[in-house]
Amino acid sequence: MTRSVKLEKISSLNHELAAKVFQEAFNYVGQNWSETESIKYVERIAKYACSYVAILEGAAVGIIAADIKDDHLFVDAIGVSPKHMKEGIATLLWNQAKSFAKQSNISIIKMIADPKSLAYSWYKKLGFSETGWVELLLEIGKE
Ligand SMILES: CC(C)(COP(=O)(O)OP(=O)(O)OC[C@H]1O[C@@H](n2cnc3c(N)ncnc32)[C@H](O)[C@@H]1OP(=O)(O)O)[C@@H](O)C(=O)NCCC(=O)NCCS
Repeated sequence: MTRSVKLEKISSLNHELAAKVFQEAFNYVGQNWSETESIKYVERIAKYACSYVAILEGAAVGIIAADIKDDHLFVDAIGVSPKHMKEGIATLLWNQAKSFAKQSNISIIKMIADPKSLAYSWYKKLGFSETGWVELLLEIGKE
């Protein structure tokens, strides 16, 4: 199945398709991205060194956004269309990011993930470990 999936670098040619799959994947896990916000996000990640959309039969089925930061590759997002989850598409996208890092002589990949998410156990299986840093948030006026 994944053999017919093609990975395309995100560009102005496919960014609307990429925004659609981004919105579908992340709203599926309870986020609340509008179409406009998703397009803006994809326009931003199109400038990243490693941003790909997975295309199957003309439709976007997955997306990865990663960029080089200092000494590492930072994976900002990886998402798959709910209709095509568990078909190996995220694995294809992840392998693309790993190959990109190797070709760029980068040996460290980082991301921020929710330990309660389904993806988290997959990241652990891939070999990711916690750095010890924890994201903090303060809503001003509620402190
Ligand atoms: C997480 C996500 C990217 C996985 O995509 P996918 O294409 O279904 O993943 P794959 O088919 O390549 O499978 C990757 C691994 O995840 C596991 N997996 C995928 N979906 C799973 C689920 N719902 N429950 C448990 N394990 C799951 C697979 O078993 C596989 O593990 P394996 O390599 O040991 O066999 C996808 O579910 C998604 O887009 N979720 C919503 C967005 C999100 O949460 N992104 C991550 C935060 S940035």
